[in-house]
Amino acid sequence: MGTRNIQFFLISVLFLCLSLKPHLSTGADTISVGQSLSGKQTIISEDGNFELGFFTPGNSQNYYIGIWYKKVSAPTYVWVANRDKPLSDSSSSELKLLEDGNLVLLNESKILIWSTNSTSDTSNSTVAMLLDTGNLALRNTLNLSVSIWESFDHPSDTWLPDGKIGLNKLTNKTQLLTSWRNSEDPAPGMFTLELDPGGTSQYLIHWNQSKQYWTSGTWNGQIFSLVPEMRSNYIYNFSYVTNEKENYFTYSVYNKSIISRFVMDLSGQIKQYTWLESSKSWNLFWAQPRKQCEVYALCGPFGSCNEAVLPFCGCLEGFDPQFPKDWNLSDWSGGCMRKTPLQCELGTTVIRDEDRFLHISNIKLPANPQSLAVLNAEDCKASCLNKCSCTGYAYGSDGCSIWHGGLLGLQQSSDDDSDIYLRLAASDLSGGSGSKKKGTVTWVIVGAIAGVITLLGFVIVLSWCWWKRGSVGTSQAVEGSLVSFGYRDLQSATKNFSEKLGGGGFGSVFKGTLPDSTVIAVKKLEGISQGEKQFRSEVSTIGTIQHLNLVRLHGFCTESTKRLLVYEYMPNGSLDSHLFHQKESKVLDWKTRYQIALGTARGLVYLHEKCRDCIIHCDIKPENILLDAELCPKVADFGLAKLVGREFSRVLTTMRGTRGYLAPEWISGIAVTAKADVYSYGMMLFEVISGRRNSEQSEDGKVRFFPTWAANKLIEGEEILSLLDPKLEGNSNVEELNRACRVACWCIQDDEAHRPSMGQVVQILEGVLEVNLPPIPRSLKVLAENHEDIIFFTESSSNQSTQGGSTSVTSSQTKSSALSLTMSSKS
Ligand SMILES: *[C@@H]1O[C@H](CO)[C@@H](O)[C@H](O)[C@H]1NC(C)=O
Ligand SMILES: *[C@@H]1O[C@H](CO)[C@@H](O)[C@H](O)[C@H]1NC(C)=O
Ligand SMILES: *[C@@H]1O[C@H](CO)[C@@H](O)[C@H](O)[C@H]1NC(C)=O
Ligand SMILES: *[C@@H]1O[C@H](CO)[C@@H](O)[C@H](O)[C@H]1NC(C)=O
Ligand SMILES: *[C@@H]1O[C@H](CO)[C@@H](O)[C@H](O)[C@H]1NC(C)=O
Ligand SMILES: *[C@@H]1O[C@H](CO)[C@@H](O)[C@H](O)[C@H]1NC(C)=O
Ligand SMILES: *[C@@H]1O[C@H](CO)[C@@H](O)[C@H](O)[C@H]1NC(C)=O
Ligand SMILES: *[C@@H]1O[C@H](CO)[C@@H](O)[C@H](O)[C@H]1NC(C)=O
Ligand SMILES: *[C@@H]1O[C@H](CO)[C@@H](O)[C@H](O)[C@H]1NC(C)=O
Repeated sequence: MGTRNIQFFLISVLFLCLSLKPHLSTGADTISVGQSLSGKQTIISEDGNFELGFFTPGNSQNYYIGIWYKKVSAPTYVWVANRDKPLSDSSSSELKLLEDGNLVLLNESKILIWSTNSTSDTSNSTVAMLLDTGNLALRNTLNLSVSIWESFDHPSDTWLPDGKIGLNKLTNKTQLLTSWRNSEDPAPGMFTLELDPGGTSQYLIHWNQSKQYWTSGTWNGQIFSLVPEMRSNYIYNFSYVTNEKENYFTYSVYNKSIISRFVMDLSGQIKQYTWLESSKSWNLFWAQPRKQCEVYALCGPFGSCNEAVLPFCGCLEGFDPQFPKDWNLSDWSGGCMRKTPLQCELGTTVIRDEDRFLHISNIKLPANPQSLAVLNAEDCKASCLNKCSCTGYAYGSDGCSIWHGGLLGLQQSSDDDSDIYLRLAASDLSGGSGSKKKGTVTWVIVGAIAGVITLLGFVIVLSWCWWKRGSVGTSQAVEGSLVSFGYRDLQSATKNFSEKLGGGGFGSVFKGTLPDSTVIAVKKLEGISQGEKQFRSEVSTIGTIQHLNLVRLHGFCTESTKRLLVYEYMPNGSLDSHLFHQKESKVLDWKTRYQIALGTARGLVYLHEKCRDCIIHCDIKPENILLDAELCPKVADFGLAKLVGREFSRVLTTMRGTRGYLAPEWISGIAVTAKADVYSYGMMLFEVISGRRNSEQSEDGKVRFFPTWAANKLIEGEEILSLLDPKLEGNSNVEELNRACRVACWCIQDDEAHRPSMGQVVQILEGVLEVNLPPIPRSLKVLAENHEDIIFFTESSSNQSTQGGSTSVTSSQTKSSALSLTMSSKS
């Protein structure tokens, strides 16, 4: 620090001596009193991490003063001074350190646009310096530890390592992280992140500074209670500081060579990125809220959010985007406007059809309903029709609800079975068939490019998921036994896509029957980015991947922009419905579960090792394991990542699939190997054993995490039957249960070198190999050491009798942390 001080002092003296020359030479990291920046002049932090100067975002014509990464090739602005006061020119504008010690921005006519407003008595000895953390600081040259003003105290949308986002207890003011208005306008947008102004240790996100739609939960010393994935975080050192002046969080990156940023994104999500130099792109590895459509009013009035398409926002039928330009720049907040005004709005002079209602199903109802006490749906409809301000109604088990004005927060989702009746001018009801017509949401594809901008970062990770892919012969358009279907054929086979089986990651799936009475599952791919030729060649590659434990592709359809895949039908649905929703279906017995675990593992071995174009699945979870009539497991959705485009698929897997199946290496931004599938498989195996989700949030907001509890039981040598799904009432094969628990625990080791290969997993489950006791994975240990806030599953299962089992597992002295396998004497 001493040398830095002296060095700095010399530099500032030098500048004071040269104060006749008001502008800066290049390469400086400071602005001294009387000096200014104009035009293309910049200052650069000492180690060359950050640069400060004028910039124009995207295609914008406006100039701003900002800080960006010097070493990152994609322009990324971490701080903006004049967010909502743009300049039209940079050459005659000035960022100047005045003699009163204030850093100010003056426009062409020397009018003050922005100022640090600092009141300091050190004026003449003040200096503005850009630090290597990305912090612009006004300091006293006579004593550099005296800080007068810091950009870190006035963040824009980015929270850099070593920065803080907190609450000033003296003024009760919080620091806000505010999204940009759109991708080219840094003015404050709709979404803000702040520490709870009420004084608790939780972060909140608000829409328009009023409606809260996300909270982190309180800090327990290790993690925020509603962000359990922080347990597997070992790149950041997060800490909470509270003193009489302020409460704040700060974080640092353990490995200083990792470039990382946290941003309140335009999408209304907070996102954490790391820079991947190898691909020259930002790698998004964490976002909250996890689902894009959980962001309140993202798509504005009369907009509708759909998790499964890009862009996520669309307009309801009868509506067009209000500000198409903003939609293009990922600002959806303006929502949609009517194509045709309502009859009631036109008054009685114009004679036209009366307003009608469009029935829209599978929708999450809008915010702010008004409840009416009416007897039936007809009265509900009439009540809405009678008021011109009423734009829609719903009549269901909760009675009658009506809405006034712009509908906010509509969400199209197969998980939601609500219906709404949307008021439209008669001419906007296509077909004019009146209120009984089943509505669809028309998706206005205005923003493909806008989406791509935010997704650039995802490209690389998925490309790791495909390796050893040689070029596929494109001349033989379709090979093997794949059938090329016409769209019409599939339309009639599925009765116009009427029987929906599910809304998987890459599009909705419908049941259908071919003329020869073969039952099929038709997947309508969404967000497809490929031309026909490439699609055919990719499909033919997937078609060659055939194994008893992989879902078989029958054929496909490609017509104009439509892309569909035709699979064999799996009458027993997906594994999650059997494990977690057992009300309707029969409880899977232990033998079946073991066969499912084994079959799934065999399918993965084939994907990883045996097929010609080897692939990593990247999204192993119970939803992607389908069961045929005999409950034989088949892995679904392999190979689709490449088909729908890597960016989209990466969004889907990361944003929705973070419920604890992702391996830690996804989070650290290093290359993903087949061992990432092994990790996800291990997590899934725990769920097969316990019959419930590994990580569940209970009503009291606490997070329960099963694998930690299980790993401890296993190592302590306690009664292993207590890990078993209570619904099985202890009926299992204890030896198999023991093997399954051990293998699951080995699979979820932090270090991928410690995880077995899928081939070894199969051998262990088959009993050919024996495996030693696993250590508790490091990231789970962190949780275990912090018992008070984490509740583990303890209820009935631990009281269970041991009947049905034979030997109980005895404690082992093996403390070795390396996977060791021995040939079983049994084989
Ligand atoms: C400078 O800013 C002032 C106040 O915002 C404005 O009236 C003036 O037109 C600006 N000058 C130029 C050249 O843009
Ligand atoms: C400085 O003060 C002016 C006038 O009080 C205010 O408009 C401006 O927002 C302040 N600037 C900063 C950076 O706080
Ligand atoms: C700061 O220095 C300038 C010239 O170097 C001088 O004119 C001015 O009076 C000084 N101001 C203060 C507050 O010392
Ligand atoms: C510099 O300022 C710090 C904090 O205000 C103070 O503790 C320190 O004694 C000062 N150093 C000198 C050399 O004045
Ligand atoms: C800040 O808030 C706390 C608790 O809400 C209150 O007790 C205190 O008086 C407030 N202080 C100021 C300066 O408003
Ligand atoms: C946001 O809040 C402001 C002030 O509270 C209000 O005037 C404005 O209408 C709100 N914006 C929207 C889109 O509701
Ligand atoms: C984490 O940060 C805190 C506060 O900045 C520091 O005291 C602690 O030593 C850091 N821990 C590690 C392991 O670096
Ligand atoms: C830090 O990260 C860099 C780049 O990702 C990597 O090469 C290096 O091995 C890491 N260092 C440590 C100590 O993990
Ligand atoms: C939106 O972007 C697309 C592609 O960049 C462009 O063709 C279209 O004209 C833009 N629309 C508007 C309204 O700016």
